[in-house]
Amino acid sequence: MLAPMHGITLRLWRNAMAEFFPMPDLAVAPFIPTFAGTKVKQRLLQDVDLSVEQRISVIPQVLGKNPDELRVLLRAFRAMGHRRADLNAGCPWPMVTKKGRGAGLPRTPDVLRRMLEVGCEEMPNGFSVKLRLGYDRPDELLRLLPILNELPLCEVTIHARTAKQMYEGKVLLNEFSEALAGCRHPVVYNGDIFTVEDFIRLRNRFATVTRWMLGRGILCDPFLIGDIRAGCRQPRDPVTLTRFLSAYLERCSQEQCGERPVLGRMKELWTYLRYSVPQGEQLWKSIRLCRTLDEYRRLLGLC
Ligand SMILES: Cc1cc2nc3c(=O)[nH]c(=O)nc-3n(C[C@H](O)[C@H](O)[C@H](O)COP(=O)(O)O)c2cc1C
Repeated sequence: MLAPMHGITLRLWRNAMAEFFPMPDLAVAPFIPTFAGTKVKQRLLQDVDLSVEQRISVIPQVLGKNPDELRVLLRAFRAMGHRRADLNAGCPWPMVTKKGRGAGLPRTPDVLRRMLEVGCEEMPNGFSVKLRLGYDRPDELLRLLPILNELPLCEVTIHARTAKQMYEGKVLLNEFSEALAGCRHPVVYNGDIFTVEDFIRLRNRFATVTRWMLGRGILCDPFLIGDIRAGCRQPRDPVTLTRFLSAYLERCSQEQCGERPVLGRMKELWTYLRYSVPQGEQLWKSIRLCRTLDEYRRLLGLC
């Protein structure tokens, strides 16, 4: 089982997680938008910098619609030592899609094709794409499969919803099944894996899926990958969770200046953790009110 994590996972969170929990084999880093010009700002590349601690392998991901701009970023990745990169053609946010990027990109199949061609040229055997089943309708991807199938992509990740659905409503498994059958590349399934039972149900149904991408599930429940690897729910040790929270706080405090941004990071994580931790909702209400890191530490009993 190989389970890349999604873009919202940051390096500090990944590294703190990897100290205490079983982890997926890969992480896809948050998308890096393309830009005009040829000079790449180092700040953009921080999360995929291989010269700093990366406790699990990380794949850089690009968001854009300009093939020349894509080339610039992919060359920067290669210069850093990356041999894999992913194109985001699935981000559903209207401010992205209305510019023809993310899930808006497949709406212009010629531009999508050109982007994929450039990707495959610059990252031979190492370029992949992440898409949805469609923009408005879940059969739209089927019409794009001939384009994907004729290029040497290394894999295709499919989030089993349309862009219009954002992250809501049910995942469309019948439509995913059709896309899976028509795609000649290794397919990564993505969408709504929140428990080991979800994973087992999907794995039993889609035997030809080669990898499984988890997003919110692992943010909500840090023990989830351990459950999946074991094949059943494992006991939750609260001490492990506390140690992880301390380590994450420590890592963020070391790398980020200022108490407010660090506290913001902690609260961001709790918007997910509250769903899996005992009395999570109650705890979340108190965490929201914390104004200092000391208050946060005291509340959670962190050292
Ligand atoms: C706040 C947020 C940021 C995201 N950023 C990215 C990203 O940078 N790249 C990407 O491919 N997916 C991104 N995603 C989508 C996730 O990778 C994933 O496709 C989505 O959460 C659905 O999977 P899940 O049901 O397992 O959570 C993001 C999702 C959210 C909610």
